Amino acid sequence: MELLDIMLKRRSIREYDGEDVADEKVDKILMAGLLAPTSRNRKPCEFIVVKDNDMLKRLSHSKSAGSAMLENANCAIVTVADSDKADTWIEDSSIAMAYMDLMATSLDVASCWVQSHLRRTSDDTDSEEYIRGLFDLDDKYRIVGILSLGLNDNRPPAHTLDEIDKSKIRYVK
Ligand SMILES: Cc1cc2nc3c(=O)[nH]c(=O)nc-3n(C[C@H](O)[C@H](O)[C@H](O)COP(=O)(O)O)c2cc1C
Repeated sequence: MELLDIMLKRRSIREYDGEDVADEKVDKILMAGLLAPTSRNRKPCEFIVVKDNDMLKRLSHSKSAGSAMLENANCAIVTVADSDKADTWIEDSSIAMAYMDLMATSLDVASCWVQSHLRRTSDDTDSEEYIRGLFDLDDKYRIVGILSLGLNDNRPPAHTLDEIDKSKIRYVK
């Protein structure tokens, strides 16, 4: 599949059929995260792969809304970044998440980005702090988000090129 086709096909999918995502596919998704470029090549990102149901449930409570799908995910990739290594941890983590999201789509794995940075749990704990607590992470680890993964044959329709708002492009020639 061409990259543009993968980009059109990529949708946020929040329901999963309970089937296992093959380890080989998860490995390829992680490779995509590790191949993502980082500012000054500092590579601050680390990836925590969660398959344990109890931990997935805890992650599903990592924010007050928008993380519930993690309870039924087959796997979650928590993207954490060492902020002592790079002040660009937001950008580096976001690019890694986007690469992994596209790789998941190319492998027919259903995925959804779950925002953690700047979000709070339903009892008003900072979402990053909550997640750091789950994995006993030092405060220097910052958490842009979590990629939720599963399988689902019922995909929302792909995006189309007609949706593109070309008025957002300005040419200076
Ligand atoms: C930075 C970012 C944060 C997001 N956070 C969440 C989230 O916490 N929960 C969720 O269900 N979807 C989340 N999404 C998915 C968006 O809602 C989704 O990408 C958008 O509605 C467009 O739909 P599409 O991905 O199907 O094209 C996030 C997406 C991005 C890029």
